[in-house]
Amino acid sequence: MPLVGREHELRRLAETLARPPAVVMIDGEAGVGKTRLLRELPGPLLVGNCHPMRFPFGPIVEALRHATLPPSLNPITGALRPLLPEFAHLLPLAPPPVQDPQVERHRLFRAVLSLLESLQPVTLVVEDIHWIDADTRDLLGFLSRCLPPRAALLLTYRPEDLGGPVAALRSHLPPHIAYAQFSLPPLDRAETALLAKHLLPDPPDLWPLTVGVPFAIEELARMLAEGHPPGTPPALRDAVLLKLEALPVAARRVVQAAAVLEEPSCERSLAAAAGVPAEQCERGLAEAIRRGLLRETTPGQYGLRHPLAKQAVYDSITPGLRRRLHRRIEAPSEPRGAVSPREEQVIRLAAQGLTNREIAESLFLSPRTVEVHVANALRKLGLTSRRQLPRSTT
Ligand SMILES: Nc1ncnc2c1ncn2[C@@H]1O[C@H](COP(=O)(O)OP(=O)(O)OP(=O)(O)O)[C@@H](O)[C@H]1O
Ligand SMILES: [Mg+2]
Repeated sequence: MPLVGREHELRRLAETLARPPAVVMIDGEAGVGKTRLLRELPGPLLVGNCHPMRFPFGPIVEALRHATLPPSLNPITGALRPLLPEFAHLLPLAPPPVQDPQVERHRLFRAVLSLLESLQPVTLVVEDIHWIDADTRDLLGFLSRCLPPRAALLLTYRPEDLGGPVAALRSHLPPHIAYAQFSLPPLDRAETALLAKHLLPDPPDLWPLTVGVPFAIEELARMLAEGHPPGTPPALRDAVLLKLEALPVAARRVVQAAAVLEEPSCERSLAAAAGVPAEQCERGLAEAIRRGLLRETTPGQYGLRHPLAKQAVYDSITPGLRRRLHRRIEAPSEPRGAVSPREEQVIRLAAQGLTNREIAESLFLSPRTVEVHVANALRKLGLTSRRQLPRSTT
């Protein structure tokens, strides 16, 4: 699949990496294209991934395992033998053991530094440092302060999952090391259309449902190509639900309330709908935003990251809880007639006699969303049945 967009980011990245020693950070939400961007970079790159299991030095071992070792290495690199047994025949003998574990650790750090020196020019890429282990974090801190002259460090992460190591690393960089930070935004509408065109012969507009996140675009396109009606792709649903389950219960309720509320809502409405006290709602909201589930769509209004995520959360709510959430949302008296543009669209079609499924297909929504829109619109219009709709909407 050809790369869509990202010309500006690639140009700046290439410029920074062309002036080592350099430290580069790329952040962006899950599926936005951090890893894809790396595939475009000129080598040599050594790539290691952090994992949620946080194995000590896991990403460094993975990156170095892919290196082609030069024939003569500094004896200090023998300290890497315990980490890289597969290189036993290529590494010098391990230096004699010392009793102090801190001295052993310093040796290991120097061994990695020495190996990078002998592999120059080189870019050490550590992906997904939101899952970094403490040992790799310390090692990267050490390396970043004494990078060899033709070496660069490139780190990627999802900002929503990160608790501070980036700031610590950046704040300790010596002045001779170039630093660049890239925040990768989702694709814009035109780029989304272009990616969709690569994936489907006659693609519908995928932007409203995916807000330009390439992973969501690809997964949705796959569903459509397989003849499924538009809905939340399983891989995306699983990612959203994993995040939801990891939230404390009050934060989870706030996200579930946001999934039931049809439009992005203020903190007060979310707290009322979720049935949580104001300060728990405030904390829950902050946590849900930090985890990338909710976002501030306009100042003071919060909603799910994109409609597919909203649908995934909505579908996962048990019927009992869903009823309670709907009841709380319906309890405050909303002004009659405050029908949103989307509801207007839906009820106009309902008034023409279309079923929820037919409306869903023509507006590219899920039937469940249509059901919610119809119910909310009827309530706002003070109606009890869709049969009453034609008179009220024309
Ligand atoms: N600009 C792009 N053009 C074409 N395809 C893209 C683009 N960006 C991303 N993709 C595709 O979208 C999918 C998700 O991208 P990628 O894995 O790079 O995201 P990521 O930001 O690394 O996500 P994660 O945080 O989960 O690691 C991949 O299949 C990738 O090939
Ligand atoms: Mg990635």
